Amino acid sequence: MSIIEKAASRIDHTRAPAPAPVVVEHDDQMVVLQPHASPATALPPAAAPHVPPASAASPVVAPGAARAEPRLESRTTTSKQGTRQVELDLAAMREAGLVTAASGRTSLLEDFRVIKRPLLQRAFTQATGGRPNNLIMITSSLPGEGKTYCALNLAMSIAMELDHTVLLVDADVARPSVLRTLGLPAQRGLMDILVDDKLDLSDVMLRTNVDTLSILPAGTSTPRATELLASSTMSNLVNEIAHRYPDRVIIFDSPPLLLTSESRVLASHMGQIVVVVEAQGTTQQAVQESLRQLEGCSNVNLIYNKARDIPGIEEKYDYNYG
Ligand SMILES: Nc1ncnc2c1ncn2[C@@H]1O[C@H](COP(=O)(O)OP(=O)(O)OP(=O)(O)O)[C@@H](O)[C@H]1O
Ligand SMILES: [Mg+2]
Repeated sequence: MSIIEKAASRIDHTRAPAPAPVVVEHDDQMVVLQPHASPATALPPAAAPHVPPASAASPVVAPGAARAEPRLESRTTTSKQGTRQVELDLAAMREAGLVTAASGRTSLLEDFRVIKRPLLQRAFTQATGGRPNNLIMITSSLPGEGKTYCALNLAMSIAMELDHTVLLVDADVARPSVLRTLGLPAQRGLMDILVDDKLDLSDVMLRTNVDTLSILPAGTSTPRATELLASSTMSNLVNEIAHRYPDRVIIFDSPPLLLTSESRVLASHMGQIVVVVEAQGTTQQAVQESLRQLEGCSNVNLIYNKARDIPGIEEKYDYNYG
């Protein structure tokens, strides 16, 4: 039984009440992360990478709990050269519980530091089966499990690295939410490039006020999305995106695996895949079916989201990342 199957087999037995992500990797590495609050809780100034006890009582927002969403007022402008620039509302993003460089040391930041480390370590190693490892897809079985949340926070966290730039692609083309979450209106993007051969990446890519972060919106919705994502135009595009800058990591926020065929097609381009599993939400059967659909893909990881831990596993596997 693989470690992912072991983790999956425990999911139905876990009844922890609070949100927290857990990452399980194929290569017997597992990271248990503490719950974080929204807005993110400030950490004490002393540096201390942590693995909290299961009883750690950080304030948390229960899944679905009502809370006032801060209004994000990001803006898009176009420069004289035609480059589109987004002014992200970083203060409101922090209020909304997202990772930002201005947040200081927070538990959320620490959590995503732990999540990104193994992904970055692999990102610039030899491509597996011709799929560049700097292409990282975030998916899950069903809607609402935290894909966009994890994709955005991971992108922001990697953008804070000195040695990397990030392109966040909204590849959930049927129900795009990256721009909406950032307080921005829908704009041309991925689908438009695939449909219109006169458009290229630079026409639709958004630069942001975080110098190292760019965004490729989902673009105009089309019923041919799956075919377009499977097309040779898409293969050429992802190849170009992956290789144009040697330090660039590309994060794809994706649709749910069990409801659409788009995610499976997208997965076929990716060097690394992260499957978000929602504690007390995603069933064991759904996780197993999702993993089955990803058979043949390399470097599949899990984030076990919105739960405190997976009892028993943490004693068994080493999670020293300090
Ligand atoms: N670890 C977490 N802690 C607190 N809130 C979370 C966490 N993960 C996700 N959420 C919240 O849960 C809700 C659903 O998350 P999100 O939109 O990322 O899901 P999704 O999988 O992208 O959904 P969809 O399939 O509809 O696009 C959002 O309000 C998000 O802020
Ligand atoms: Mg989403």
